[in-house]
Amino acid sequence: MKKRVGIEALAVAVPRRYVDIEDLARARGVDPAKFTAGLGAKEMAVNDPGEDSVSLAATAAARLIKQQGVDTSKVGMLVVGTETGVDHSKPIASHVHGLLKLPRSMRTFDSQHACYGGTAGLMAAVEWIASGAGAGRSALVVCTDIARYGLKTAGEPTQGGGAVALLVSETPDLLAMDVGLNGVCTSDVYDFWRPVGRREALVDGHYSITCYLDAMAGAYRGWRERALEQGLVRWDSTLPSEQLARIMYHVPFCKMARKAHAQVRLCDLEDAQGPGPATPEARDEAAKSQASYDAQVAKSLGLNARVGNVYTASLYLALAGQLHAEGAALANQRVGLLSYGSGCCAEFYSGVVGEKAAERMARADLDTVLAKRERVSVEEYERLMNLPYDAPEAIAPEPGTFRLAEIHEHRRKYAGA
Ligand code: CAA
Repeated sequence: MKKRVGIEALAVAVPRRYVDIEDLARARGVDPAKFTAGLGAKEMAVNDPGEDSVSLAATAAARLIKQQGVDTSKVGMLVVGTETGVDHSKPIASHVHGLLKLPRSMRTFDSQHACYGGTAGLMAAVEWIASGAGAGRSALVVCTDIARYGLKTAGEPTQGGGAVALLVSETPDLLAMDVGLNGVCTSDVYDFWRPVGRREALVDGHYSITCYLDAMAGAYRGWRERALEQGLVRWDSTLPSEQLARIMYHVPFCKMARKAHAQVRLCDLEDAQGPGPATPEARDEAAKSQASYDAQVAKSLGLNARVGNVYTASLYLALAGQLHAEGAALANQRVGLLSYGSGCCAEFYSGVVGEKAAERMARADLDTVLAKRERVSVEEYERLMNLPYDAPEAIAPEPGTFRLAEIHEHRRKYAGA
């Protein structure tokens, strides 16, 4: 029998502060509706230098281990997906490994490809387990990032930060993955990038949206071809994409998921064999179906709207939001996931939600994770943004969390948990 492999459980860590997106709009002299209706945002996570990509990753992983009672002696791989590396050589994974006192007989590495790095790490872990190389061991995959474009830039309302830790194993209580069904698409583009030494990302915003949509169309069509071959979807009175109970997308800002969903539908509508919408205009309208978006996508965005972009973690925040909202109702149903990383690479894959998804998500206690945050003013957000990267505030870490304490002779020291 084919091995079942996938995501057993997850945990989320977010910075302790956030700014209300309407406050930010008003401070920038922008109609708040542009950020709320136009981008789909509500709140945006704000980190101080003490909450760096390492401390967020370690906090999420420690939380996962504690909440789900993970036996770390059975974990054989730790991968950190990130765009927010802290060193050209020493991986975040080694920091997390040390902070969590994980067993030494473990493969550890970081995976980098903009927002796609987490999915690349997840696939490495899944395929390691599925191949048998893991010999029954599980893997930890941690996606951690701080999305930072800078004050008063067009990208400013699409910042954010946080981490999502995934336990990958042969007990896929959250999502049993359709191993090998993935569709991928790559092209060499400059849509979003962060040259070495820069804290803020550079982005060609509108072009990056085009790149995302173009790459995802290739990835979706690749997945669909294999799913049709295996009889998991078919051409009938519904579109193949409509046969997925839900689809979660990479969410740089929530409105992007709506655009992405319309693009998936457009691929189906363009490729359908039978009679479809009479004109290209009618086809475009059908692609934008509000009913389809409401049914298949909207509920995944609850956490993303309150945290903002988390680059590698943003798709997994959407997965968390989706299963938090509807874990029980989705048991045994197939869902689709689309990962996009600028530069660029897109990957579409699918899996079946497990019967214990709701129970596992209840342990993740996401309402408490968000409720503990403090709303700050735009002035305070600007003060935090202007702190040098090596000047963490002297704040005692909350129990169960980590913070960067200092950087001394280029060595990072952490406190907490
Ligand atoms: N009321 C309601 N809606 C309004 C409005 C108002 N008063 N004013 C504007 N809007 C709408 C616009 O119509 C637009 O909606 P549509 O896209 O549906 O047409 C939306 O608000 C945004 O308006 P603009 O396009 O004018 O906004 P902008 O030019 O200031 O910038 C942005 C938008 C390009 C997304 C910018 O925020 C940005 O560069 N963000 C970072 C890049 C990014 O997130 N790219 C996504 C793809 S790349 C990727 O996914 C990787 C990654 O994580 C970065």
